[in-house]
Amino acid sequence: MYKYNCLNPIAEVGLERFNENYVRTEDAGEADAILVRSAAMHEMDFSSNLKLIARAGAGVNNIPLDKCAEKGIVVFNTPGANANGVKELVIAGMLLAARDIIGGINWVWENEEDGNIAKMTEKKKKAFAGTELEGKKLGVIGLGAIGVLVANAATHLGMEVYGYDPYVSVDAAWKLSRSIHHAKTVDELYKECDYITIHVPALEDTKGMINKDTIGLMKKDVVILNFARDLLVNSEDMVDALVSGNVKCYVTDFPTPEVTGVKGAIVIPHLGASTEESEDNCAKMAVKETIDYLENGNITHSVNYPDCDMGQKGEGSRITILHHNIPNMLGQFTALLAKEKLNISLMANKSKKEYAYTMIDVDGDVSQAVKDELSSIEGVLKIRVIV
Ligand SMILES: NC(=O)c1ccc[n+]([C@@H]2O[C@H](COP(=O)([O-])OP(=O)(O)OC[C@H]3O[C@@H](n4cnc5c(N)ncnc54)[C@H](O)[C@@H]3O)[C@@H](O)[C@H]2O)c1
Repeated sequence: MYKYNCLNPIAEVGLERFNENYVRTEDAGEADAILVRSAAMHEMDFSSNLKLIARAGAGVNNIPLDKCAEKGIVVFNTPGANANGVKELVIAGMLLAARDIIGGINWVWENEEDGNIAKMTEKKKKAFAGTELEGKKLGVIGLGAIGVLVANAATHLGMEVYGYDPYVSVDAAWKLSRSIHHAKTVDELYKECDYITIHVPALEDTKGMINKDTIGLMKKDVVILNFARDLLVNSEDMVDALVSGNVKCYVTDFPTPEVTGVKGAIVIPHLGASTEESEDNCAKMAVKETIDYLENGNITHSVNYPDCDMGQKGEGSRITILHHNIPNMLGQFTALLAKEKLNISLMANKSKKEYAYTMIDVDGDVSQAVKDELSSIEGVLKIRVIV
């Protein structure tokens, strides 16, 4: 029987995937697994029984990753689970930039008392006329979970799409529509496109990537969309570009004091992933990762340990060892098992920065003495035997 604790409300559609072998506890101290959204965990003490933390969402700033790794607690997140929600809002953002829907709706609100509104509408509507997306060029920077969906959807709206991602994964490349132009440099995309949308993480080399120099390469009247992270865009440079008219419209999911209220800025209060479906998908993925780790020892989408998958546990015992990434760990594990005459039927070992994970399937049972000996090897952080 496994115990899980939810530090935040987690969508029921995810939790109902736990079967009768799982029980919910309100005491995080006795849990095998903690599911969390945004609750701050930096000041928490973790019991030695805690095996994993699953974050239903992508960002993990609220979780002390190194402290967890050192205690042998695997931290998972759910990348891509909210990608469709963000994609749909990006499409809405392009439409809001292309047509003055906001100005038009505001005018209707302002004139709600006017009995003559139907007649006035016909006179006034030309002030809110816009352009269409079909035939326009869209540049997508970052072709990960969200970028690929945006790029593919835009092709169906008749846009000519340019994609740029020097580190694109094989998986993402397979999903990408063949009609998308592969931009060899980001400058090519900046020069060509009428709409530019960024879908990269905030890293040292991406922070401030949209600034006065890169805007200088773009077409006058370009529309820029930022549903990724506020730090990717230099706010002061963006305000200057909006005021001078070099950028026609900046659609962002991140209100900042500089940009909010500037003409041409469409500022949305971080609604990209705020859909019922996104929350459901995150919960389902977090629970799936939890079950697979507890029952099979498999790690998928961890942020502090390497991913490692040996499939479903079969007959015999599966030993899982979280340890430091230092020489001769595998040699010590296998020598010890050989000494105990335990036959190894399958083995995997993966590392990520300072940490590593070893999974070993053995025929037969593993005694407490063997577990203790494995645990006492220097560099071992946590061992489990799944039977
Ligand atoms: N608005 C929201 O509510 C919301 C919700 C989810 C995610 N996000 C943000 O959206 C962004 C993308 O998320 P995702 O799930 O698609 O991430 P992802 O990890 O699946 O994809 C990111 C892609 O960016 C690429 N990349 C990295 N550096 C690059 C560079 N210098 N130039 C071009 N490409 C580069 C990577 O190769 C990867 O393919 C992230 O910043 C994430 O935080 C926002």
